Amino acid sequence: YALMGSGKRVRPILCLASSEAVCSDRQAALAVACALEMIHTYSLIHDDLPAMDDDDFRRGKPASHRVFGENIAILAGDGLLNMAYETMLSAPLCAEKPLQALAAMRVISERAGVRGMIAGQTLDVKLEGSRPQGELVAYIHRHKTADLIAAPVLAGLLLAGAGEEQLQAGQRYGESLGLAFQMVDDLLDITGDAQAMGKRTGMDAARGKMTWPAVFGAEQTRRDAGQAVSQAGEALAVFGPSG
Ligand code: IPE
Ligand code: IPE
Ligand code: MG
Ligand code: MG
Ligand code: MG
Repeated sequence: YALMGSGKRVRPILCLASSEAVCSDRQAALAVACALEMIHTYSLIHDDLPAMDDDDFRRGKPASHRVFGENIAILAGDGLLNMAYETMLSAPLCAEKPLQALAAMRVISERAGVRGMIAGQTLDVKLEGSRPQGELVAYIHRHKTADLIAAPVLAGLLLAGAGEEQLQAGQRYGESLGLAFQMVDDLLDITGDAQAMGKRTGMDAARGKMTWPAVFGAEQTRRDAGQAVSQAGEALAVFGPSG
């Protein structure tokens, strides 16, 4: 119900595209790409729970807990997280470069874990209703979102046997793109079309979330997101012209 819904599949696409930018090992990259979507989907199911953001709609449908109850939604998230590792483990087993596949799994587990996405989510919920501050919102965005955008890029590159220079560029690309992604998500919560996004708008202000527009205003957020996207694009220069 949650996984195969109308998500944009940004993270798996980033993993496959990054791996293809160097040298594709399609089978291993596909396993890791699917696992990334499972981790992301688990984070969305839990993000929507009444104890977190208390959102009713996700991917154009009632949120999982609204249909199956909180208990089953929690378990569905737990299940997807475990299924992600089960799925990812086929990468080192089938990969042309098994050690690189293990390195990719390590990056994903670090950035999805307590020093990554979970750290960002922790601050996001703990700071509801607090005075908006730039350093804090930057920490939240870097971890709750940018870590799970940079991880697919790094994982794809590692699977393909990328060198140090390419990995550093991929990290800069993913982290800048991830920051821009959450800035735009925050903007769309104010100005977006709920139908097109498949989730309700206006929820961040209602919950007193520490968002980029809450700290810097909508205009500055647009400029900052544009700048972060440019920085992401510049980081890609080491990969040469697109083709
Ligand atoms: C939503 O992610 C959560 C954020 C990090 C903003 P997406 O906007 O990628 O959601 P789906 O996967 O398309 O549903
Ligand atoms: C969620 O950020 C980031 C996650 C780790 C799931 P949001 O709470 O802003 O995402 P939406 O707006 O509910 O999709
Ligand atoms: Mg949230
Ligand atoms: Mg939310
Ligand atoms: Mg949001």
